[in-house]
Amino acid sequence: MTRAASGIIPVFSIDRLVPTALHRQIYNWYRKAIMEGMLRPGEQVPSTRALAKELGVSRFPVLDAHSQLLAEGYFESRTGGGTFICHSLPEHFMQCAAGPRLTSVHKSPRKIAGRSSLLPPLESSPWVREIGPFGVGQVAFDEFPIQVWSKLIAWHSRNTNPLTLHYGEQIGAMGLREAIADYLRTARSVRCDADQIMIVSSSQQALEISVRVLFDFGSPVWVEEPGYGLARDAFLLGGCRLVPVPVDQDGMNVEAGIKRCPHARAALVTPSHQFPVGSTMSVERRIRLLNWAQESGAWIIEDDYDCEYRYNGPPTPSLQGLDANARVIYIGTFSKVLFPSLRLGYVVIPRDLLSRFLAVHRAMDLGPPAFFQNVVADFIREGHFGRHIRKMRNVYRHRMGALVKSIDGELGSSVEMSGSEAGMHLTIRLLNDESDVEIAYRAAAENLWLWPLSTAYLAEPKSPGFILGFGGTPVASIQPAICKLRALIAAGKISHRDKRLIC
Ligand SMILES: Cc1ncc(COP(=O)(O)O)c(C=O)c1O
Repeated sequence: MTRAASGIIPVFSIDRLVPTALHRQIYNWYRKAIMEGMLRPGEQVPSTRALAKELGVSRFPVLDAHSQLLAEGYFESRTGGGTFICHSLPEHFMQCAAGPRLTSVHKSPRKIAGRSSLLPPLESSPWVREIGPFGVGQVAFDEFPIQVWSKLIAWHSRNTNPLTLHYGEQIGAMGLREAIADYLRTARSVRCDADQIMIVSSSQQALEISVRVLFDFGSPVWVEEPGYGLARDAFLLGGCRLVPVPVDQDGMNVEAGIKRCPHARAALVTPSHQFPVGSTMSVERRIRLLNWAQESGAWIIEDDYDCEYRYNGPPTPSLQGLDANARVIYIGTFSKVLFPSLRLGYVVIPRDLLSRFLAVHRAMDLGPPAFFQNVVADFIREGHFGRHIRKMRNVYRHRMGALVKSIDGELGSSVEMSGSEAGMHLTIRLLNDESDVEIAYRAAAENLWLWPLSTAYLAEPKSPGFILGFGGTPVASIQPAICKLRALIAAGKISHRDKRLIC
């Protein structure tokens, strides 16, 4: 691929106090920048006219420098296309070009914030990034109504009021907030008006803002065990003390939480579809949680990330809708219901906290692009959103059905399955304690993306298993992928037994 032409004026200035001639200064600067890798082969250099103007010199010294650089092979010109850094710089120049990057290799680690070292390096978990069978968080990309979407984008591009190019409102575009408020009241029983809804770049950002608004350093917070690691990371980076509270078929065990840490400042929950085990929080637990929050002055952060997809009945109403004391911060995202690269989410904020949420959001970021907020508002208002949800519920129901059938057929009693009533993933537990992480690494080498269940736990015991996303896995790919998984688990059992024998 050819590099993008830039023609951007480089950062250098002419020194009129030194005896070096102007053309020589320009030549020296370019030569040094090329040798140090600041300018790379294929990059376009600015025209002599533009550079002369920028430097405040006549065109002659720039023309002289250019012709020398051309003659010596640093530059090449393309007829009618401008001047570029030569593609075929001699080998020794390229070695020199690696120079500055070598200087960034340090023998001993340099001092950074301790908190950032609490997070594992991103490259250590290939299953959270790659696209392919069982990747969690992937939607059925090919089912997205791209034509309708493109038409809306085209319409908004043609009809953009130039003033909308300025920063949008911190709270988000009014049209989108109204559309979301209507949707949440109707489909999720959320108690809200548009003026309580703030548009953010994702549920992850909503969590970060909530942490900064609500908690001081060292605040204890209940988190689900097992739970969603990225959400926990936001709390960890915000200086919170995480208190793992076990989850069962009725959701977070509130009594266990009260026993472990009665004065926690908050509980982070996924009550509609617990991540990762897939349970729905029972009404008794919801009421117990709300009462605890009210009595102890704690907050509840409800992450309602994929509530739209339930396969054995209507979606369960939100926890926020049951809350009479405005203790719940309700967070939603378009990542599952539209697509993740959109980076749009929202947070429903209790009225007395609105100004704090807005101020903190502003200090972090001036808000997601107004353009896409307006496109999504129309997508919802014109009925495409509702249609898309209905269609996708069927698509995912089929994928989930095929996955359950394959697991039953191929893995049978060697695993325990949960969470197949809703959402876009289900979980299988391995009944022998093979290392799910080892299997997941081996699977990644075969383009199979298994999220190891043990990594969703904070404390011991960490139950081994896999979180299997089926949103982006077409029905036809499911059976072959499960057969691969069966072979990997069998190989895992053997290596586990061998390790025990060696011990
Ligand atoms: C529990 C949970 N919350 C939220 C999200 C989505 O987050 P975001 O809006 O940051 O894309 C995911 C995505 O996988 C998730 O699993």
